[in-house]
Amino acid sequence: MSKSNEAWGSRIGLILAMAGNAVGLGNFLRFPVQAVQNGGGAFIIPYLVCFVLMGIPLLFIEWSSGRYGGKFGNHSTPYILDSMVKGRVLKYIGVFGIFTNIAVVSYYAYIESWTMSYVFHSLKGTFVGMSQSEVAGFFDSYIDIAHSTTGIPYEAVLFYILCLSINVYILSKGLKGIEKVAKIGMPLLILFGVILAVRGYTLGTSGASEMFPDANAWDGLNFLWTPQYSSLLDLKVWMAAAGQIFFTLSVGMGTIHCYAAYLKSKDDIALNAVSAGFMNEFVEVVLGSAIVIPIAAGYLGLDWVLNNAGFGMAFQTMPYLFQQWGPILAAIGGFMWFGLLFFAGITSSLAMGTPWMGFMRDEFGWGSNKGAWTFGALALVMGLPTVFFFKQGVFDEYDYWAGTVSLVVFAMMETILFSWIFGLKKGWREITDGADIKVPNFYKYIIKYVTPLMLIVVFLGALFSPLN
Ligand code: PHE
Repeated sequence: MSKSNEAWGSRIGLILAMAGNAVGLGNFLRFPVQAVQNGGGAFIIPYLVCFVLMGIPLLFIEWSSGRYGGKFGNHSTPYILDSMVKGRVLKYIGVFGIFTNIAVVSYYAYIESWTMSYVFHSLKGTFVGMSQSEVAGFFDSYIDIAHSTTGIPYEAVLFYILCLSINVYILSKGLKGIEKVAKIGMPLLILFGVILAVRGYTLGTSGASEMFPDANAWDGLNFLWTPQYSSLLDLKVWMAAAGQIFFTLSVGMGTIHCYAAYLKSKDDIALNAVSAGFMNEFVEVVLGSAIVIPIAAGYLGLDWVLNNAGFGMAFQTMPYLFQQWGPILAAIGGFMWFGLLFFAGITSSLAMGTPWMGFMRDEFGWGSNKGAWTFGALALVMGLPTVFFFKQGVFDEYDYWAGTVSLVVFAMMETILFSWIFGLKKGWREITDGADIKVPNFYKYIIKYVTPLMLIVVFLGALFSPLN
């Protein structure tokens, strides 16, 4: 085993990298759609409950497991879990987590590559003068690889390879590379997000909506944020909320363990974990719900949003809406929106590379270079089916099995391991050792009883009533 002497350069670098890991495409593309599809305000209470009872405990568990395993010179989930409790089975659970990362990054980086291409097209002025259906048609053509008429043959494939190469290049620079991207990308993302959100809030009404003729951006927000208590009894809404919490916080995949393995043994966990988690929630709940839905509601009306809420809105509709601002502002709007998505995406896809790279280092002593290139090659092979057969639903299958079910399974096993096998006595010491805040004592009971129980319920629920 080769212990690398890499470490986080600064506390702010660590927090931004961890927040970048969490803040991702999920915050802007997945959250608003999940919210609308699960009844708007109906979603928010289950969502917040899942955040407090599963999200925060899992952050504590993953951060402290990572720091613990790092003390023994480990960099990857199989070795970290193994250092907590000896036994082959746990190693296999860790390896399972590595495959999840490769499967998720293979489709995640594809969406990330669209954002690069859309930055390019926004600046180039491709969407100028297009009607709403033409902008939507451009997207359909873009993902229809063989018949694409975007002007660049095999454009989606080229951008996908370019996007993976950029990821590989940064990963090959090791931890320093990840930290640098987070330090540049996260502040820019927040800046762009705030500007676009303010624009969203200040939109008047276009009168386009038949059902709500005066609807403006605020109505879009009201729809999302007016709580509906009836949903509390709806199991499907709870499943969706739990799934979103896992995905958005990046728990259940091992990326947090791998980042935390580079902490020093007395570094704070409690405050750092909570800071990164809350930063993610700010971006998701405040910015994630303040851009697509309000701008679309402002221009096209709330009934349009309700009927069309979907993941494609970001690409099929936003470039058209930006055109209403005139060609120059539209280019700037497109640059900021897709640039924001790109930074959100890359700081997450980089994280997904670290479990594989860490494992290769622990197992074979590979350095960052070799680890990063093999990771890129694997992601490419795994990702090509999504690229070529996106329309046939490959994406949804990957997102369901890798991006939803696997996270719950992994989270359930690691929680049981942490609370019951490693033991919460030791676990609590790991969480609170060196902590800069006092973690309330009742979290001990939550982590021991409530979180595992909820995870088992979610797991059984996911088995018997698939989300998609
Ligand atoms: N949290 C990221 C997002 O919201 C996705 C992610 C999941 C990243 C798991 C790393 C690990 O987009």
